[in-house]
Formats: sequence, C-alpha cells, structure tokens
Amino acid sequence: MSKRSWAGVDDYIVGSLFGPDPVLDAVLAANHEHGLPAIDVSPAQGKLLSLLVRMRGAKKVLEIGTLGGYSTIWMARALPVDGKIVTLELDPHHAAVARSNFEWAGVSERVELRVGPALQSLAALGAENAGPFDFIFIDADKPNNPIYLSWAMRLSRPGTVIVCDNVIRDGDVVNEDGRDANVEGARAAFSFIGSEKRLDGTAIQTVGAKGYDGFAIAIVD
Ligand code: SAH
Ligand code: DHB
Ligand code: MG
Repeated sequence: MSKRSWAGVDDYIVGSLFGPDPVLDAVLAANHEHGLPAIDVSPAQGKLLSLLVRMRGAKKVLEIGTLGGYSTIWMARALPVDGKIVTLELDPHHAAVARSNFEWAGVSERVELRVGPALQSLAALGAENAGPFDFIFIDADKPNNPIYLSWAMRLSRPGTVIVCDNVIRDGDVVNEDGRDANVEGARAAFSFIGSEKRLDGTAIQTVGAKGYDGFAIAIVD
C-alpha cells in the first residue's frame, strides 16, 4: 500500500463516517495561507481525539503544541459547555493564527492559549494548581517528551488519559541507526510510559493522509 492509497482510505473514512467540515477546512486553509507547516493531525485523527475526549467524559483538557489549533478545535468541540482546554504554544505567529482560528470556529470561550516555552507554561500551571486535567495531548517538540510526560503525571489524577503524537515516525522508532532527535523523543516516550508504574499504556500505528506514524495512549492509575 502506498501513501496515496492511505490518503484515499482516509477520504473514505471521513466521507462515510462524518463528512468534510467547512470550518476545519477553512482552519487548514488559514494555516497554509499564514505559512504554518502542515503537521496538524489528520481529520480522522482529529476525530479520534474528539471521541477519546468524549469517551473519557473530560471537562479539563491540556494540549502541549497548538500550531494553528486544528487539533485544539477538534477536542474543544467534544467538551461539555462548562469544559475547558488549555493549549501551549511556543511560536507567537502560530499562536496568533490559532487565536484567529478559535474565533472563526466559535470555541474561544472554551480555549485558553498560553504562549511561550511549554516548560515555563507547565511550571506556571503547576504553581497555579491548574490541574488535574482529565485528558492530555502531547504534540510539541519531541525531545522534550519525557519532561512533558512527567508534567502530565503531576497535572493528572487517576483516570486521566494521556495521548502522545508521532511516536512511530515511519517505523524509525525501531531503527537503531536512527540518531534523529525526534525519533529519540519517540523512544523516550515509550521508555517513560513503559517504566512509570502509574501508567497503563499502549501505542497504535497509524497510516493515512499524514503517512505512517502513531499515537501512544495511556491511562493514569
Ligand atoms: N497539535 C497540533 C500540531 C502541533 S505541531 C495539531 O495537530 O493541529 C507542534 C507545535 O509545537 C508547533 O506549533 C511548535 O511551534 C510547537 N512547539 C515546539 N516547541 C515547543 C515548546 N518548547 N513549547 C511549546 N510549543 C512548542
Ligand atoms: C511532524 C508531524 C507532527 O505531527 C508533529 O507534531 C511534528 C512534526 C513531522 O511530520 O515532521
Ligand atoms: Mg503531531
């Protein structure tokens, strides 16, 4: 199977199960127009995140790595009216595009965007006692995955679901030659989840419009 057929099957999944979404399509167009890299989750993956948020019954969501807010909007839409998502972004330009996208999507009231290095924002959230979060999506600079996971533990409670994106990287996660910092970050996520006694987790390999990659998913005991 080629990447092209994976994308075709993604179109089929979207077309037969939930259909294209003009608002989210406009968000992707705005991201492109403003020069953001097209590294958002795919539509089928965004839908998965929204379903996981609903299945968890999450009211408080934390996202590390906003980009233009595509994944944020998927998750924000899955929240109850009194739900909230805090999303962390380093790049002020990405953050400005995301803010405008949140307005366009009508989710601004449920989204709190914090601009700056996630490590600083996480420390601030800890100091403010902003946790515990019910659902945490980690999708920023991959080498910091272990630090983000340890913050996720501190900002969680039993039952919190943690999802970490891009942990398969075309299968390079098992390629010992790979010295790529992003691949090392993927492996670090596996060793963190595998060795943390309070986490019960697995990973799913995914193919689709975004190629071959995957999510790690874990629940806090
Ligand atoms: N979750 C988004 C994609 C995020 S891409 C979606 O699926 O739609 C990764 C984002 O993490 C980029 O916008 C990048 O600027 C941001 N990022 C990178 N390093 C960061 C850091 N140290 N702190 C916060 N955000 C960071
Ligand atoms: C890439 C993809 C992502 O989903 C991400 O969060 C960061 C980088 C990439 O393909 O390079
Ligand atoms: Mg990602």
